[in-house]
Amino acid sequence: VKHAEAVDAYSQSNLISTTEGEALDHAYSNSSKNGIPEIALSPVQGKFLNVLATMSGAKNVLELGTLGGYSGIWLARAVSKHGGKVTSIEIDPKRRDVATENLEYAGVGDDVEILLGPGLEVLPRIAKEIEDGKRERFDFTFIDADWENQYTYLDWAVKLSKKGSAIYVDNVVRQMLESGIVGDEKRDPEADDLVALTGKDDRVEATLIQTVGAKDYDGFLLAVVR
Ligand code: DHB
Ligand code: MG
Repeated sequence: VKHAEAVDAYSQSNLISTTEGEALDHAYSNSSKNGIPEIALSPVQGKFLNVLATMSGAKNVLELGTLGGYSGIWLARAVSKHGGKVTSIEIDPKRRDVATENLEYAGVGDDVEILLGPGLEVLPRIAKEIEDGKRERFDFTFIDADWENQYTYLDWAVKLSKKGSAIYVDNVVRQMLESGIVGDEKRDPEADDLVALTGKDDRVEATLIQTVGAKDYDGFLLAVVR
């Protein structure tokens, strides 16, 4: 879309302060230097996530897919002011290490706990801790991990959340286009259709929002736990 990148740049330069941006620039450059794929949120998307988490009054945030900690910095900034905490799951030890550096550089190292392992192994452990009263339920979840498991992750997030919690799933439109769920590609029969499954799920109320900007054409699903 013509002008989409220019509007993103305008939004960023006016609504994200230099002080706020410095640690985020560091997260991008340190991640890139360490060979981490450049697929983190854009600054404007990160700020949006921060505003959403603040709006929801979130205290315990769950993140699936730490990557280099870029979104983790934005989420931590939304919750750390009122004693909140981010629990982030990452499968790759190298990414975990770089994220740890980036979060520490941003001054939120103590506000983000990174749990290493595949989501499908770590999530049941978290569930057990909640069951045993060792951990509070989540009130905001950001899912930005492997697309094959998007609905499985959403299902876990619902089970681990309080009523009224928000669940944000990144890259849903991109995944729909790439797997032929919508568009011209031949339908990949293996692809889980997150949107169709969420629509049949009575535990949540959800919407799918399309986006343009620095990360091109994409979109996210936003759900609230009933
Ligand atoms: C891509 C973008 C993302 O935000 C992500 O999490 C994974 C991949 C992409 O541009 O392909
Ligand atoms: Mg993403």
